[in-house]
Amino acid sequence: MKYQAAVLSLVVAIYTSAVVGDDNLIPPRREVYNNGKIFDITHRYQPDMPAFESSDGIGQFLWLPKSMKNGSIANNSEMKLPTHTGTHVDAPGHVFDHYFDAGFDVDSLDLHILNGPALLVDVPRDSNITAEVMKTLSIPRGVTRVLFRTLNTDRRLMFQKEFDSSYVGFTVDGAKWLVENTDIKLVGVDYLSVASYDYLIPSHLVFLKDREIILVESLKLDDVPAGLHSVHCLPLRLAGAEGSPIRCILIKY
Ligand SMILES: *[C@@H]1O[C@H](CO)[C@@H](O)[C@H](O)[C@H]1NC(C)=O
Ligand SMILES: *[C@@H]1O[C@H](CO)[C@@H](O)[C@H](O)[C@H]1NC(C)=O
Ligand SMILES: *[C@@H]1O[C@H](CO)[C@@H](O)[C@H](O)[C@H]1NC(C)=O
Repeated sequence: MKYQAAVLSLVVAIYTSAVVGDDNLIPPRREVYNNGKIFDITHRYQPDMPAFESSDGIGQFLWLPKSMKNGSIANNSEMKLPTHTGTHVDAPGHVFDHYFDAGFDVDSLDLHILNGPALLVDVPRDSNITAEVMKTLSIPRGVTRVLFRTLNTDRRLMFQKEFDSSYVGFTVDGAKWLVENTDIKLVGVDYLSVASYDYLIPSHLVFLKDREIILVESLKLDDVPAGLHSVHCLPLRLAGAEGSPIRCILIKY
């Protein structure tokens, strides 16, 4: 029967590639899925991805203490990674000690804010995200999730091992303007920090003070059309951690 033959050849194919080996095995690595309907906006974790204030990238973070090559029944790797590495989320405990002590970790973040309709906007390339810039973006009330694409994307900063402090981010007045004049609860940016280097901590404080806004940093926004999408971001459920790597995708409406 046709069906049985198909199943048999599938089993043979799996057996052949698993046991006999196949030199032509090429794993798919995609940025876009389902004919352009799903965009992966997460950066790939690899040793030469940039780390804050480091010129050497994140370095080795994966080891293989148990491997089939040296007799284990399976390959089992281990990783060690700062929680604010690559595409990641900040919880309120990141910059507020009393929130940290009270347990406002990544496990306490609202998944509803991290998942839903989101606007991808282009920030004028000649400026940091100031109050003036926020005004000109005229993001309508009712928009709760915004991903800000900036000069960082054009400069491909996340693809450069060396940290660059001249990245674009929010100034304090820009952060304040967003908090006071919009309904935005999810702020996504395209480099390691939502705050520009000169306002590193003050801008974070403005955003995280009320514990209503979630910050997602180092998003990969290349080649994604501006406009409305559905965003889906899921942090690891790390109890006690004020940050976590996060997988984010955009789905076209
Ligand atoms: C097994 O091999 C890996 C590298 O493939 C090495 O890191 C690890 O230490 C080895 N473990 C033992 C028990 O030899
Ligand atoms: C891990 O397992 C595969 C077989 O599934 C084997 O080909 C490979 O060599 C192993 N890796 C290491 C580092 O031992
Ligand atoms: C943004 O601010 C940083 C310092 O925080 C500065 O180095 C950079 O030149 C500014 N970028 C733009 C486009 O104004």
